[in-house]
This record gives sequence, structure tokens and C-alpha cells, in this order.
Amino acid sequence: MFCSIDGTGMEDSHLTGGVSDEGRLIADTLLVRQYLDRAVRPDAPDARERAKYRDAIKDLLERRNAAIVAHYYVDADLQELAEETGGFVGDSLEMARFGRDCDADMLIVAGVRFMGETAKILSPGKTVLMPTLEATCSLDLACPADEFSRFCDAHPDHTVVVYANTSAAVKARADWVVTSSIAVDLVDHLAAGGEKILWAPDRHLGAYIERVTGAEMLLWDAACIVHEEFKARGLQDLVQVYPEAAVLAHPESPVGVLELADFVGSTTQIIRAARELPNRQFIVATDQGIFHKLQKETSGKEFIVAPTAGNGAECRSCASCPWMGLNSLQDLHDTLNHGDNEVHVDIELARQAMIPLRRMLEFAVDFRS
Ligand code: 13P
Ligand code: SF4
Repeated sequence: MFCSIDGTGMEDSHLTGGVSDEGRLIADTLLVRQYLDRAVRPDAPDARERAKYRDAIKDLLERRNAAIVAHYYVDADLQELAEETGGFVGDSLEMARFGRDCDADMLIVAGVRFMGETAKILSPGKTVLMPTLEATCSLDLACPADEFSRFCDAHPDHTVVVYANTSAAVKARADWVVTSSIAVDLVDHLAAGGEKILWAPDRHLGAYIERVTGAEMLLWDAACIVHEEFKARGLQDLVQVYPEAAVLAHPESPVGVLELADFVGSTTQIIRAARELPNRQFIVATDQGIFHKLQKETSGKEFIVAPTAGNGAECRSCASCPWMGLNSLQDLHDTLNHGDNEVHVDIELARQAMIPLRRMLEFAVDFRS
């Protein structure tokens, strides 16, 4: 289980049943830090080089009948390329759905590892590549499958619901997988049937679902290193500076931030809210990569990054996911060119993980997502 890298970010924590063990916590923090140390954002190529890569990638995509499936947090060039070439940019639920439904032979997943694994599980017949296999997620890292399985075994009377930001092995142990776009709807539905929920791994999202639905939930104790850094106190001050602005927040943010938000939702839902709300200004508590799409989809609106704990040189995850940032044009080109960085998922694990993933996609059909 993981708490924030620098030991801050506990102010808003609302745990109801997480496992708390100091040794484990330190080990998890060190593990995340180790991966973070390897996440060195590649230098951005100049405009001429970028144009060269873009042309070469377009050519390779066509030759390999491949499609780029990208998340909003990755580099704007990759998002543009995905859309220009018949690929897709979206939140994690939509990425999973697009990957499953598109008829390309090869998917290039520009995001983090769990997104590549989900694509592979849902499309075993497609080749799934990623610009880098180093792109992970603090939530995935802080939820080791063996430990998680013991937690589930200790609570056999609970329905196991896991966030998509987990490994294939953790999904394989779950009854349901959800993304932030349908988590509240699904838990609401399960709670209405009298089910008690075991939730993992994001404690902020878990606590948010618990507050909104009133469900009885046991929460795993992990957090997103990016959203955990948003601070309620700073946000309160910023709202004074921009009194007309609406606050849009991703539910991985701490409770104090969510309480100040006018809208809480997945990345796609945040973009939709920015389009539909009458406000001209928005304070946004999620990764800054989303600003590209926000600006594209709204005209004349202004977006301001919500304040984080660290504005100094030390801060590597302030409103900017270090692992999403590893996805570069050059790596995408090289991956496509050489066919390397292929995502593999153990066949038996994939078979088991497919069950809750399918349930998620079927449930999402009936709900606004
Ligand atoms: P979305 O499903 O809202 O895109 O969230 C994914 C994620 O990793 C947010 O940090
Ligand atoms: Fe994981 Fe947070 Fe990065 Fe999303 S932003 S991929 S939750 S570390």
C-alpha cells in the first residue's frame, strides 16, 4: 500500500478499512520511487523532426494496419496523430472499448501499462505494442496481486471491485473492473442489491464512491501520485482569485479538493463538463495533458491548473504523470518500425481477467459513461 512519495498528501485521507503496516508502506513508497527514477521524460524533438516522425508513423500505421489508442494525458502530438490516422483518444473505458471494437491488426497503446494489458486481454488476436513498456502507474505498483489476493481471502463476504489501473493479475482476482467514468454507477447498483464492496486500489476514488453511494466499502490504501498532490488549501485561495471559474476534478483527488469541485468525473466527463457548463474559466484538478483536448473542444475558454503541493524543482508528478510523459513520438516510431515493446499477458490470467472486464463493458453500455 502506498502513501504519497514525499510523505505529504495524507491530510484528506478517509480510510475505512485499508491495511496499515509501516514496513509495507515504506517498501511500496520505495518501489514507486524506484520506478519514478527510471521515468525520465524524453527531450522533445524540434518542429522539423516532429514533422518527419509524424510522416513516417503515418506510413508505418498504414503498412501494418495499425491504430493508435491514446489517453488524454500523453503528448499532444501523439493525440493529434491518433485522431488524424483513424485511431482514438479517450479515457480508459473508451480506450478499452475502441481497442476491442476497431478492426486494426495492431494496436499502439499510448498510455500506461494497464491500458496496454487491457487492450491485449480484450483483443487477444491483435498485436498490442506500446511506445515504452516502462510506463506504469503508482496505483498498479501499490497493489501487488499476492497481497491483494490475501486481502480478498480475508473478506469472502465482499464483492471485489477493482479500478482499471491495476495489473492483469489483480483484475483476474476481481468480480468487477471499473473505470472512474462508471465506478459510482456500478457500486450504486451493487449496493442496491445489498452487496458489501471490497475496493482497490485508489483510496481517494474509493472514499469518493463511498460518500456518493453510501455503500459499505473496505478500501485498499493506495493513491495516484499526480492527483494526490492537489491541495484543498491552495485551491480555496485560487477560487478567490477566479471567482467565476468552475472547478473540475478527477475523483482520484483528495476529499478536500473534491468538496470544492463543481464537477467530479473521468477525463472524458471533465471535457464534456467544460464544453457544456456556461463558465468561461475553469480550474482543473487532473493531469495537464488534458489541456490540449480541453482547448480544442471549447473555444475561448480558459483553463487553469489546480495548485499542487510542490511547485519547486523537486516535484516530478505535479499535475503531470511522469509515466504518461514517457510516451514520445520517437519511441512510437521506433516501436512501430521494429515491432518491439509488445504487450504479453499470461493466457490463464487473461482468461480470468476477461470476465470482470467484460462485465464492465456490458454494464457501461447501459449507463452514461
Ligand atoms: P480516466 O479513466 O478518467 O481517463 O482516468 C485514468 C487515469 O489514469 C487517471 O489518472
Ligand atoms: Fe496512474 Fe496517476 Fe498516472 Fe493516472 S495519472 S496513470 S492514476 S499515476
